[in-house]
Amino acid sequence: MRVADSPTLSDVERGLQMPLLEAMLTQRAIRRLRPDPIDDAIVLRCIEIGLKAPTSSNGQNWEWIVVKDPAVKQKLAAQYRQAWALYGGAMRRLNRVDDSAAKILAAVDWQVAHLAEMPVLVVACLRGGRVPLLPQPPLVESSYYGSIYPSVQNLLLAARAMGVGAALITLPLWSVTAARRILGLPISVRPCCIVPMGWPVGRYGPTTRKPVGDVAHLDRFGRQPWRGREEAASKKALVSR
Ligand SMILES: Cc1cc2nc3c(=O)[nH]c(=O)nc-3n(C[C@H](O)[C@H](O)[C@H](O)COP(=O)(O)O)c2cc1C
Repeated sequence: MRVADSPTLSDVERGLQMPLLEAMLTQRAIRRLRPDPIDDAIVLRCIEIGLKAPTSSNGQNWEWIVVKDPAVKQKLAAQYRQAWALYGGAMRRLNRVDDSAAKILAAVDWQVAHLAEMPVLVVACLRGGRVPLLPQPPLVESSYYGSIYPSVQNLLLAARAMGVGAALITLPLWSVTAARRILGLPISVRPCCIVPMGWPVGRYGPTTRKPVGDVAHLDRFGRQPWRGREEAASKKALVSR
């Protein structure tokens, strides 16, 4: 549905011309979203771009629930509150909370408190999966979840390029049974993660990550000739928008 006075797809679609490197280097979790509506066409365009991602055996076994009903959002928000009360509480108790961790905790607190007011919650789901009671090699699990996250990352990059706020979250789905009930999912469909989408309060910008030399190994684990290597300078040139 097109919403009067809010940007349409044609207002923001040009953002998709953003250089890929700029989108990738500045895509970060945008947790604070305005409650203003977002055009369905923008959300569907992001999902459509998500669908260009690979899936195991080209199964394309995804299902996307676009949640706009306030009652359904309230129920997912209640699940998030429960999980965050435990998980966030444990993080605060166990970690020394430095400035950057405190900022993330505050942003998650805000997201938990305001989830039900966000215009759209996109729930990424997969059909099929585990055969009950049968032992399965790790490869099966890896291929299963590996069939949703590339598409979610594509969606996040598309949102970033169009200036739509988005973030990947899983905690509201801590109880798959509850999530299935809330969303009316059959037993054959598993909810994997949620991406709240809307107009951002803050801005996109560069992220902080480990240096590549600390995590890249040559030929075998532990051989790390690239440790201490300087990071490519491209990030410095980025302007957030
Ligand atoms: C599988 C997965 C699950 C996540 N679940 C949550 C979540 O439930 N709540 C949340 O606030 N962030 C969640 N995140 C987001 C991470 O916290 C975030 O990507 C990380 O802090 C880096 O943030 P940045 O990209 O803004 O630097 C999740 C990310 C992934 C990949």
